[in-house]
Amino acid sequence: MFYLYFYFIITLLFNYIHLVQCLLSGTSSYKSYYANTKLYYAGSNDFFYIDLTNLPLNENTVIDSSKWIQLNYSIILIRPFLGGKANDKFFFSSFAFVGNSNEVFLETFDTTLNKWDKDINFTGKPSKYFESFDDWVSDKNTGKVYSLQQGDVIDIFDTVNLVWTNSSLVPQVYQDYTRLLRPTYDPPQVILPNGQILYFPSEIPSFFSQDSNATMNSILTYNIVANSWQPINTTGQAPSIRSGYTAVLTSDGRIIIYGGMSNNLAATPSIVVLNTSTYEWSTPTEANPIGPLASHTSTIVDNYMVTSFGIIVTKKNLDRGPNKNVYKLDISNPSTYKWSILSTFNDNSTKPSKSPFPSPSTSPHTSPSNNLTTAIGVTTSILLIVHFIFWWVVII
Ligand SMILES: *[C@@H]1O[C@H](CO)[C@@H](O)[C@H](O)[C@H]1NC(C)=O
Ligand SMILES: *[C@@H]1O[C@H](CO)[C@@H](O)[C@H](O)[C@H]1NC(C)=O
Ligand SMILES: *[C@@H]1O[C@H](CO)[C@@H](O)[C@H](O)[C@H]1NC(C)=O
Ligand SMILES: *[C@@H]1O[C@H](CO)[C@@H](O)[C@H](O)[C@H]1NC(C)=O
Ligand SMILES: *[C@@H]1O[C@H](CO)[C@@H](O)[C@H](O)[C@H]1NC(C)=O
Ligand SMILES: *[C@@H]1O[C@H](CO)[C@@H](O)[C@H](O)[C@H]1NC(C)=O
Ligand SMILES: *[C@@H]1O[C@H](CO)[C@@H](O)[C@H](O)[C@H]1NC(C)=O
Repeated sequence: MFYLYFYFIITLLFNYIHLVQCLLSGTSSYKSYYANTKLYYAGSNDFFYIDLTNLPLNENTVIDSSKWIQLNYSIILIRPFLGGKANDKFFFSSFAFVGNSNEVFLETFDTTLNKWDKDINFTGKPSKYFESFDDWVSDKNTGKVYSLQQGDVIDIFDTVNLVWTNSSLVPQVYQDYTRLLRPTYDPPQVILPNGQILYFPSEIPSFFSQDSNATMNSILTYNIVANSWQPINTTGQAPSIRSGYTAVLTSDGRIIIYGGMSNNLAATPSIVVLNTSTYEWSTPTEANPIGPLASHTSTIVDNYMVTSFGIIVTKKNLDRGPNKNVYKLDISNPSTYKWSILSTFNDNSTKPSKSPFPSPSTSPHTSPSNNLTTAIGVTTSILLIVHFIFWWVVII
């Protein structure tokens, strides 16, 4: 009886997910990474790269998607993190149902040797409610990576010594802030060279909460050195609250907030910048604007922010995407940021998809282009199902 009931709920949720997936856009299904002069993309069942080795971004070469190189893999890929002594190794943690974090195992992909290693031995274990699809930030100096998890705790993995630990809990007085980082618990986050991790809040979809009072005037931070939590007040015109946006850190200490949406409309202004020495917001001029995008992924490559995929918020329904292009934003002039295209998706190399939720490909060795639409649907579904199960269990 219990299982039948459970099954019924899951079936309902599947249908529900189809309806609400447009509303929920807190997470990008792809995450991009820059390692070894290559731009890597990992999605739920897709892993590929664009080699930028002999392609200086200021030369304006437009790269065709035939140059997107698929990587072979054997596990479901969700949210890997970069680490290792040279910061050139991807770590993939396996999927484990909430509460079964003892079963998590790790595989690595070494981007220098182009080599996979299975069943990486490590000491310690993930926190109780560890979810392998929550995002990570990497501290390049120590090789430690950090992932904010359910239960108001950060999972910490030392990628050099292979030790899994966790942080102190978010103090009760700040738990209001972590509420604003839900529903996906995958908030845009950056780690500063001084060891401060900033967690940016997202708009909570109205069916979860009527009284979202989130603002970006105060940002929850975790100090990795002191193992302490603290909100930081900002000054200047903070970006309006939004979901599905990205935050990246430039080498001179600017955090660039880009895109996202609010109430199903494009968030404006689409680029807002936080100076991390003064915690002051400013709004630069945006030249050749793209999109506007939401649920995209962004990463810094030299003097550019490379932004990929996501949906085009100003379009309607299925025309919204997925956007399959890769753009670059020239950030060298702090008062004017300029977009251009970095790589175009060649539509001729893909079959049009009939459903926005095609079933996952059984063969991992397909071209990246074919997997784009699939991966976006699959990741969103997995995220939602696990979250609903978690909440359901907690409520009961
Ligand atoms: C992936 O596998 C295919 C077929 O086994 C092989 O031809 C290809 O070189 C592999 N790609 C990489 C990047 O290892
Ligand atoms: C993990 O430990 C086992 C047993 O000691 C060993 O057989 C295996 O090779 C180790 N895995 C790696 C990736 O080193
Ligand atoms: C943090 O790690 C310790 C040691 O493994 C464990 O006892 C504790 O339950 C963990 N905290 C959470 C919230 O899972
Ligand atoms: C948000 O509003 C709730 C009540 O609606 C209040 O208890 C809480 O302190 C507010 N949070 C912040 C960060 O202002
Ligand atoms: C941040 O602002 C809040 C109210 O807006 C205030 O209560 C708090 O003291 C400020 N924190 C700091 C560190 O200035
Ligand atoms: C941050 O603000 C300070 C003080 O105005 C300024 O000196 C510094 O150049 C700014 N940093 C960036 C990256 O704009
Ligand atoms: C795609 O194919 C059509 C005709 O089959 C051709 O006209 C078009 O130029 C092709 N586009 C690209 C980007 O190759």
